[in-house]
Amino acid sequence: MKLFIDSADPKEIAELAATGLVDGVTTNPSLAAKTGLDIFESLKSICAAVPGPISAEVLATDTAGMIAEGERYAKIAKNITVKIPMTWDGMKAVRALRDQGLMVNVTLCFSPVQAMMAAKAGATFISPFIGRVDDAGEDGMQLIRDIRRIYDNYGFKTEILAASIRSVSHVREAALAGSDVATIPPNIFKQLLNHPLTDKGLAAFLADAKKANLRIREE
Ligand code: E4P
Repeated sequence: MKLFIDSADPKEIAELAATGLVDGVTTNPSLAAKTGLDIFESLKSICAAVPGPISAEVLATDTAGMIAEGERYAKIAKNITVKIPMTWDGMKAVRALRDQGLMVNVTLCFSPVQAMMAAKAGATFISPFIGRVDDAGEDGMQLIRDIRRIYDNYGFKTEILAASIRSVSHVREAALAGSDVATIPPNIFKQLLNHPLTDKGLAAFLADAKKANLRIREE
């Protein structure tokens, strides 16, 4: 499964990209607003730090406006992915931007049928918001499973990008459900390697090595 970072903060993203395990980034207007930075400058440095798809969301709500904003974003770098909301105007913009050879991520997906429509429009990625579905008292992970089944039934090539991730368990469940990508907030990304038995085991190995005066590096 590909791992994207869900953030618009270039510094935070560059730190995590240094692990070599970051395949892309998703931003949205709320995340961009939180940084207080110029969005175009931020996107430029994020696109340089991470070679994979970098989602940049339009603010226009009409098709022509979304296309124009998408084209402007696309000038920043080759790895820009235009993020378009799940609306009828959005679906027309998806088709037009895909026809220009741009990558498109359809955002704010809350139902399997919405995901099918985005795939029919030619979306590169579909973003089901699993945490927000859970918050609404429904089963976010079932949404991923349903979309996986529909896409596999009909051979849709759109990649499922599990979004609105709130925990490491969400990452595990999304991987088990066959999601192609998970976009993960930085604080959760940092927890992906955590396991108490790893810490305990490493401490014991190091203590034993110290007792026996084992050395590997040449002094
Ligand atoms: C996805 O692309 C969105 O940026 C994001 O995952 C939304 O997550 P939230 O529900 O935590 O705001």
